[in-house]
Amino acid sequence: MTTIFHVTDLHLRQALPGHNGHVHRLSRHMPSLLAKLAERIEAVAPDLVAVTGDLLDVPHALLDREPGYDLRALTQGALADYWLVRRWLESLGRPWMVLPGNHDHGPTFDVVFGSEPVTRHFGPLAVHAFHDWEQAGNQALRIGTPRRHFEQVIAAATEETDEVHLQHFLVRPHVDYHYPLLYGDADDIARRVAEAPGRRLLLSGHWHEGTPMVQLGNALMGGCPAFCEPPHRYRVFRIEPGQPVAMQEEELGASFSPDTRLTILDRPGLLTLPPGTASRLTPRPDMGRIVAGLAGMGHLAIASPWHAPETDAATWRGVQYAHDAFFQDLPANVGQADALCIYLPQGEQPGRRLPAEAITREPELVPRLAALFGIAPAEVTLLTTDPARRAAAVAAGAASPDLGGPMPDGEAILAAAGL
Ligand SMILES: [Fe+2]
Ligand SMILES: [Fe+2]
Repeated sequence: MTTIFHVTDLHLRQALPGHNGHVHRLSRHMPSLLAKLAERIEAVAPDLVAVTGDLLDVPHALLDREPGYDLRALTQGALADYWLVRRWLESLGRPWMVLPGNHDHGPTFDVVFGSEPVTRHFGPLAVHAFHDWEQAGNQALRIGTPRRHFEQVIAAATEETDEVHLQHFLVRPHVDYHYPLLYGDADDIARRVAEAPGRRLLLSGHWHEGTPMVQLGNALMGGCPAFCEPPHRYRVFRIEPGQPVAMQEEELGASFSPDTRLTILDRPGLLTLPPGTASRLTPRPDMGRIVAGLAGMGHLAIASPWHAPETDAATWRGVQYAHDAFFQDLPANVGQADALCIYLPQGEQPGRRLPAEAITREPELVPRLAALFGIAPAEVTLLTTDPARRAAAVAAGAASPDLGGPMPDGEAILAAAGL
């Protein structure tokens, strides 16, 4: 029997600054969550640990090579973070396979992982990893080297073939979503793996909610939920010749201890200067002191309104550029916030430019973040200059001191938080 431990979509950031705009992707907590996961892996004692892409959450400015950003520093951050993932994999003391996803950065991924084999054998079972990339319109295609690999694998299949295909994007089942989740050539891949002789198991990531496993001819396929999101799920597959594949989905559970303190810092007026250049969030001079002080108290989430003058006209990607640059402006010796929560005023609709599930409505700021972090609202402090948001936080059971004025002094902010 071969046991495969499948985990996907880590979206890790450590040396990389900032945070994904989806607040529930706990990029900055991956090292501690991976340490807990290592204990589960040790208990399962799998033959293979497979990580199917989005290892890192690389800022879009680097992926898009956007001018005006410090791409050199972002590249160094990505390299350091890939080495962090690689050291974790090697610490497991078991065979592992990884492949990139659409949030990975090809050049640095290849420096750290490019030399790893894309096929491994476990007795009669062969495991193939396909390093596919998104093409036009964010739609992945199996072309070039991975396509040639796929064609060879399919051509060589016999009735005795027993194999696993690892890939980031979905082949099946269909998921209705505004962003492409399936390969552009998913119909072709699905037909070929279903019709080829022998048997194959296709393990994907990418769709963070995960899918059931579906049988299509000779192939069983589906996507594992993203590990970066609570409750941090993963799957264990047990494969034995002549037997149906057995799958077990498990989870780490709560991300944090319930008595952890959470400070939510409302960005406008507290961390950035009044709007100047469009789409740029200009940090106040003492931003590093404020973030370092608050981060030392427990968890720190930055709340940032979508309908701010600096971001109102931006696309979702533009908003993420702006926040990545803002986090990159923190001094190197200052920690980063644990989460970024982009929110909409009450009654506003996200509209077509925004991924609806990423957006928190203003009155839900405290309840949603408290639930996400597994913390009671009484452990939460919201620091804001907006009276309506303060009132909503207090109504939700959180503390929200009056900071008295549109641009409070940094020391006054820290004092209000209890420092
Ligand atoms: Fe992902
Ligand atoms: Fe993805």
